[in-house]
Amino acid sequence: MQRVFSGIQPTGIPHLGNYLGAIRNWATLQADHDCLFCLVDMHSLTMPWSPQTLREQTLGSAACLLAAGIDPTRLYNQSAVSAHARLGWIFNCVSRLGWLNRMTQFKDKAGKNRENHSAGLYVYPNLMAADILAFHATRVPVGDDQLQHLELANDIAQKFNHDMGVEFFPKIEPLVPPAAARVMSLRDGTKKMSKSDPSAQSRIVLTDTADEIAGKIRRAKTDSEPLPSEMAGLAERPEARNLVTIYAAVSERTPADILSEFGGQGFGPFKNALAELLVQKLAPIATETSRLLQDETHLLSVLRTGAERARSVADPIVNEAESLVGF
Ligand code: ADP
Ligand code: NA
Repeated sequence: MQRVFSGIQPTGIPHLGNYLGAIRNWATLQADHDCLFCLVDMHSLTMPWSPQTLREQTLGSAACLLAAGIDPTRLYNQSAVSAHARLGWIFNCVSRLGWLNRMTQFKDKAGKNRENHSAGLYVYPNLMAADILAFHATRVPVGDDQLQHLELANDIAQKFNHDMGVEFFPKIEPLVPPAAARVMSLRDGTKKMSKSDPSAQSRIVLTDTADEIAGKIRRAKTDSEPLPSEMAGLAERPEARNLVTIYAAVSERTPADILSEFGGQGFGPFKNALAELLVQKLAPIATETSRLLQDETHLLSVLRTGAERARSVADPIVNEAESLVGF
């Protein structure tokens, strides 16, 4: 059975992009893969954070994932398993500054004010490589925003193997979901939907009520043209294309099929149908999340058990990596 590692930052509530680009597929993969699902709280420190909020959102994210069908025995938080930090440091010393300088996500997140960001944000991809390779995981389900980081992880693994003279770390392959590989912001079709976007209107989160979902879709940015009847007509219309892509991904139909139904009409009826569809798919997850959040002791014990299991897999691997480097 292939081992799968997946991580999500507990910074904020998981959103529709996380759901369509990651979580929904994780739930499917569990059936025939050896999966580990990790709340990467160490990555959450790479941007400014509040301890109280991080603690709450770790539990909130755990509840969302369980509500979306993730197996409780496979879920844990990163900081509870020291193998991440131990291998992360080794990888900081294997990775090259030149490689990190090419990472587009750092450039996007750091923006113009580069000098004032944490060193953690810069070396984040090294820790992400450690997250995966500490388990010798070979499959990583990600949205296409993470493909560059996976290439870097393979470069690090290859250099480690080369420098130590053994084929120790396996090659990682991404599993990118075919539909909606990238969901864009509802306010700006050129930016990806993200937890770190300051505008709450930019994303639908897994705890939104039916009214909140409908409101966000109604206010989602569009242009004033009617929908085209073919995909080619969406080429220069990122907001319209994003909504059609979301509709297609959620309904598991093709974008062409959606346009054959709504092409020629204005956005009014399309947005109503999209809101209804999203409410139907997401409202049950929101209900189950709030039920789970009422029992904090249970959530904490789920994370504790998951961490024990994760440690039993990663510790022997990272012990061996440490011995290879001469510790
Ligand atoms: P965020 O960027 O919102 O903080 P994370 O970095 O925690 O999200 O990503 C968790 C998972 O969700 C990753 O597998 C990532 O590829 C996926 N993901 C994040 N944003 C999107 C998006 N807008 N569209 C599709 N997948 C996404
Ligand atoms: Na991200």
